[in-house]
Amino acid sequence: MAELSMLIEPVYIVTIFFFIIGMQRMSHPLTARSGIVWAGAAMLIATLVTFFSPNLTNLMLIAIAIVIGGGFGYIAAKRVAMTDMPQMIALYNGMGGGAAAGISAVALLGTTTTVTGTLAVIGGLIGAVSFSGSLIAFFKLQGWMRSKPITFPGQKIVNMAVLVIAIVCGVFVVIQPSWVPLSVATYLPLFFILSLSFGFLMTFPIGGADMPVVISMYNAFTGLAVALDGFSFASPNYAMVVAGIIVGAAGSLLTLQMAKAMNRSLSNVFFGAFGATEKEGAEINGSMKSIETDDVAVLLAYAEKVIIAPGYGLAVAQAQQKVKELTDLLESKGVHVTFAIHPVAGRMPGHMNVLLAEAGVAYDHLFDRDEINPEFPSTDVVLVIGANDVVNPAAHRQGSPLFGMPILDVEQAKNVIVLKRGQGKGFAGIENDLFYRDNTRMLYGDAKDMVGKLVQAVKRY
Ligand code: TAP
Repeated sequence: MAELSMLIEPVYIVTIFFFIIGMQRMSHPLTARSGIVWAGAAMLIATLVTFFSPNLTNLMLIAIAIVIGGGFGYIAAKRVAMTDMPQMIALYNGMGGGAAAGISAVALLGTTTTVTGTLAVIGGLIGAVSFSGSLIAFFKLQGWMRSKPITFPGQKIVNMAVLVIAIVCGVFVVIQPSWVPLSVATYLPLFFILSLSFGFLMTFPIGGADMPVVISMYNAFTGLAVALDGFSFASPNYAMVVAGIIVGAAGSLLTLQMAKAMNRSLSNVFFGAFGATEKEGAEINGSMKSIETDDVAVLLAYAEKVIIAPGYGLAVAQAQQKVKELTDLLESKGVHVTFAIHPVAGRMPGHMNVLLAEAGVAYDHLFDRDEINPEFPSTDVVLVIGANDVVNPAAHRQGSPLFGMPILDVEQAKNVIVLKRGQGKGFAGIENDLFYRDNTRMLYGDAKDMVGKLVQAVKRY
């Protein structure tokens, strides 16, 4: 066993390279799946090699925990619907934060120096906040809790007070001053209870629409907590440090990019209680005008330029294969077809890219918001499939809760066809005046059924 333990550090170094390769591959939809495999393999190898450590005790308990946790994770991930993915990520991310907080607790219960103790306290605080905050995000997204911001008078002061007292308890745990009235045995649980409470309190005022940004932020927190925990041992665990830093850095970048895509600052996301006092928006004039499948088929078949703007409804209906069929068919008739991908369309970052790549839509057909927006005025038909908030012109109107969010300017096209089931609102719960515009027609029905019908109808022209 002693000889095998010498393998640990070199194998950790190898897994670090695996993590980096995985991360690099995850940055492109075509290689993202293999990126997950690389990172997953790295995590598996790092976990297995750790069993060679001579310091490891309670092997049986660890094995049981791995079987229960791994088994639950495997079954849940196999069963989860694509549309429930954000809450699953929130839950798993929370577990990571909880595990990091647990490692800190173990480190603080043992012998620490001021430096390792401080790192363990910071890791514990961040991990606990990530755990409890992610749980609230899970409850809100799962619909087990009011998704709108939960606010109360003096909330920011209460939150700040809880955080400050948690930090003070953490400091007492590390330096153990003789003049404080209570013992470490009291301050340590108090520190964790207050840290967990801060995570709850910090997430209550954040509305469901901002949850993706929050989950990504807590993901970065978990990474940071793990990295700090890696330093809290007598000899640092570099696999934890590097994996944690990668997760922390990637999560932070994703958070900033998502906030940018919604035109929100992070402080506005976390402290703005977006949607708490949301009004139904300005009065909308006009009426929604519906259209039949055959008429849409004629418009599409005789168009020169068509842009498809997909959204969450496409994912719900699993219409991506049918959309690919429609694209191929139109292209065979000489129609120029591209896709307008909004960064927060759907329910998770890259949701539309992943779905369309899965259906075999070539990546060079997908254009992000900045690239595609100038194209709309010269477009004959925009087919909006199951998208709502990301095409809502209310974002251009002062006073709208969506004001400032960059959207796909589909309303500038000659004809806009919106395919959705009925009058349902989008994730932000705001009325969409695009549906009432003169150049917009509503094609009602399930996205998969209706695109299938469109394929049949276009074949006739
Ligand atoms: P949404 O605004 O959520 O609108 C989706 C629309 O799809 C609904 O209005 C719904 O109308 C329609 N729909 C639902 N099921 C359908 C089906 N089977 N067939 C056809 N249509 C269907 O979607 P979006 O435009 O993609 O915007 C995304 C929103 O989610 C943004 O507010 C964003 O901030 C938020 N969000 C994004 C993420 C990320 S990171 N992507 C994560 C969480 C939340 P009907 O009920 O009338 O059919």
